[in-house]
Amino acid sequence: MLVTTKELLEHAQQNKYAVGAFNVNNMEIVQAIIEAAEETQSPVILQASQGGLKYAGVEYIAGLGKIAAQNASVPVAIHLDHGTDFEQIMQCIRHGFTSVMIDASKYPLDENIAMTKKVIEVAHSVGVSVEAELGKIGGTEDDITVSDRDATFTDPEEAKRFVEETGVDSLAIAIGTAHGPYKGEPKLDFDRLETIRKTIDTCIVLHGSSGVPEEALRKAISMGVSKINIDTDVRMAFAKGVKALLDEKPSEYDPRKILGPAKEEMKRAIKEKMEIFGSVGKA
Ligand code: G3H
Ligand code: 13P
Ligand code: ZN
Ligand code: NA
Repeated sequence: MLVTTKELLEHAQQNKYAVGAFNVNNMEIVQAIIEAAEETQSPVILQASQGGLKYAGVEYIAGLGKIAAQNASVPVAIHLDHGTDFEQIMQCIRHGFTSVMIDASKYPLDENIAMTKKVIEVAHSVGVSVEAELGKIGGTEDDITVSDRDATFTDPEEAKRFVEETGVDSLAIAIGTAHGPYKGEPKLDFDRLETIRKTIDTCIVLHGSSGVPEEALRKAISMGVSKINIDTDVRMAFAKGVKALLDEKPSEYDPRKILGPAKEEMKRAIKEKMEIFGSVGKA
C-alpha cells in the first residue's frame, strides 16, 4: 500500500528501527526492492534522485512506484531524493509522490529555512511529507579534513532552530557519511548524533549509508536514526549480477536473462540491509 514517509518514520522512531530508502532508476530495481520488502515484511521507501529522474523521467518513476506500492502487501512510500528545484518538487507531488526532499543545504541557514518552509507550505497542504538537509553531506571524492568536519557537519543548535521554524518532518544530517563508496572506513561523529537526537524530536535521516560498516549502522539506529539511504551498494550488486552472468554466458543477448540474475543479486543486498535496519517484520 502507498503511504507517506511521515507515517513510516514515526513508527520506526518510536520502535527503534530504521526504514531503508533505496534509489530507483528502472523496473528491475523497483521489483528487487519490493520483493525484498515483501519477503521480509519490511516497510520501505522508493526514492528517485536527480540522476534517476533525468534517466527515466518523472512519469516512468512515478508510474513504476505507484504500481509497485499499490500492489505491495507492505507499506511503501515514493520519495524525491535531493530535490533542489521548487518546480520539480511540485511536479513530483502532482505525479503522486508521497514524500519530497528539499535539499537547500548549500545555502546559508536563513535561506535553507525559507526554501524549506516554502515547500512545506504546499506539500503539507496535500498530505505529502518533507525531508530537508542541514549540514553538508559530501561525496567520498571530496577530501574532508578534520577542520572541515566541524565546519560542514550539522550544528545541533542550528538543527533546533531549523526544525522549530520549518516544522519539517525529517532532517538529513551530516555526521561523517558521504555519497558513493568510501576510500577507507567512514568515521561517524556519534557524539554529535547524540546531541542532535537530544535537541530535536524530528525523524533523523542518514544519507551516504552504502559502505558504512554494519556495526556503525546499528549504533546510529540505536541512537535514533530512522531513515537510511542506500544507493551505491545496490548499484554494485546490480553490476556484480550482470558481470557474473556475462562472464558465465558471454553470448547471452536476452535482457531478461541478463537482468534477472542482477535483480536477484540486488534483492540479496537489500534484504541484508533490512536485517541490519531492524525493519524486518515491521510491516
Ligand atoms: O543522491 C544520491 C544518489 O546516490 C546520487 O544519485 O547519480 O542518480 O543522481 P544520481
Ligand atoms: P550511497 O550511494 O552512499 O548509498 O548514498 C545514497 C544517498 O544518500 C541517496 O540520497
Ligand atoms: Zn543523499
Ligand atoms: Na556511501
